[in-house]
Amino acid sequence: MAKQSKNEKMENIVSLAKRRGFIYPGSDVYGGLSGTWDYGPLGVTLKRNIMNLWWKMFVEDREDMFGVDAAILMNQKVWQASGHVDTFVDPLCEDTLNHRRFRTDHILKDAGVDAEGMTMAQMDEAIETNGIKSPDGNPLSKSRTFNMMFETHVGATHDERSVSYLRPETAQGIFTNYKNVVDSFYPDLPFGLAQQGKAFRNEISPRDFIFRSREFEQMEIEYFVDPGEWEASFDALLKDIYAYLEALGLPLENIHELEVPAEDRAHYSKRTIDIEYDFPIGKEELLGLAYRTDFDLGNIQRVGGRGMEYTIKGTNTKFIPHVIEPSFGVERALMAVLSAAYTEDEVNGEKRVVMKFPEHLAPVKYAVSPLLKNKPELVEKAREVYSILKKKHGAVMWDDNGNIGKRYRRQDEIGTPYCVVIDFDTLEDDTVTIRYRDTTEQTRCSISELR
Ligand code: GLY
Repeated sequence: MAKQSKNEKMENIVSLAKRRGFIYPGSDVYGGLSGTWDYGPLGVTLKRNIMNLWWKMFVEDREDMFGVDAAILMNQKVWQASGHVDTFVDPLCEDTLNHRRFRTDHILKDAGVDAEGMTMAQMDEAIETNGIKSPDGNPLSKSRTFNMMFETHVGATHDERSVSYLRPETAQGIFTNYKNVVDSFYPDLPFGLAQQGKAFRNEISPRDFIFRSREFEQMEIEYFVDPGEWEASFDALLKDIYAYLEALGLPLENIHELEVPAEDRAHYSKRTIDIEYDFPIGKEELLGLAYRTDFDLGNIQRVGGRGMEYTIKGTNTKFIPHVIEPSFGVERALMAVLSAAYTEDEVNGEKRVVMKFPEHLAPVKYAVSPLLKNKPELVEKAREVYSILKKKHGAVMWDDNGNIGKRYRRQDEIGTPYCVVIDFDTLEDDTVTIRYRDTTEQTRCSISELR
């Protein structure tokens, strides 16, 4: 097969995702709302499978992790203390003629200039010296900072005290519950609190499909450690991250570690490793692992006035624990899974598109079909087989649309590992055809084996 360009691959994935009911542009019937995406029947299942796998591997299977689910709206002091009100900003510049606004570092990146580590003044200088114009060909303004938090008001009054924000990270909902969990469960250090949930960032220029959207989901862990022992937990969590990425079916050769230099780290971090992935849009951040020190618990103690110290059991030794934070973006994981699964091959001289999801992630595990949908005896038998599989696996689809070849193509495109076909032989000997997605091979097996 001719090798496709990276952008072509991305376009094919976006179009398949829409056509087959994974992901639709948000508010599409009203002309859309940029930076938002809606999940269709297959997308929501795929996304949940990715999130449930994470929850299983990082929470359920472990003794040292506790789950929480905090409110999205939080007291404004949370975001003042965390530094988000002052520093959660992106550099913004403007087309001086039509006043369209852009992220300055994206303008530079698109012009082939790497803005990593640059101050805003350096970015403006780079724009000037390279003669970079807006995408509409007009001069650009100097940059200013733009806070990415969505501001809202809680209750019926609109004043300074009623200001709140849609949370820009789930992490703060964990820190604010640290003491609650310690008081309820008395965990030994090190231990972690984990949360999955929505986060919101008012991106200046959302782009690249679900990679950079304004509303997204995070899966975050704050792992509380003795400050003297943070490195061991950092290394152990990095290993656990790799185990999860492997379970997502992501090829190791597409995963890269970036030791983030001090000038590029978030304000709270003493060490960060970004795990990058070779997406079709290029090598980009998939997740981060950060050593957040006692920055957040220290802030809560200072601003909130509540003691955040941990007392080692049976001793008088007290300290504010330090924190290691693995932070995953669900949509980025999903985009990596989609791009790893997307495959084009040839079957009987015809091009085929197949999503080779790992079986445990596939939104549909079995498709069940009667060979002919106008033969009641085949339909009745197929319905029986469908019920057996549905009870056992849940994620089973009834598919009697079009001829059998078309059904296979459709199921390949949604990544169904097994198609089960009921034909005239089934009526004779109670066996069905199982057709395998990856190899397109077919075998026969008895219905009792399926049971
Ligand atoms: N909690 C880290 C982040 O949201 O990037």
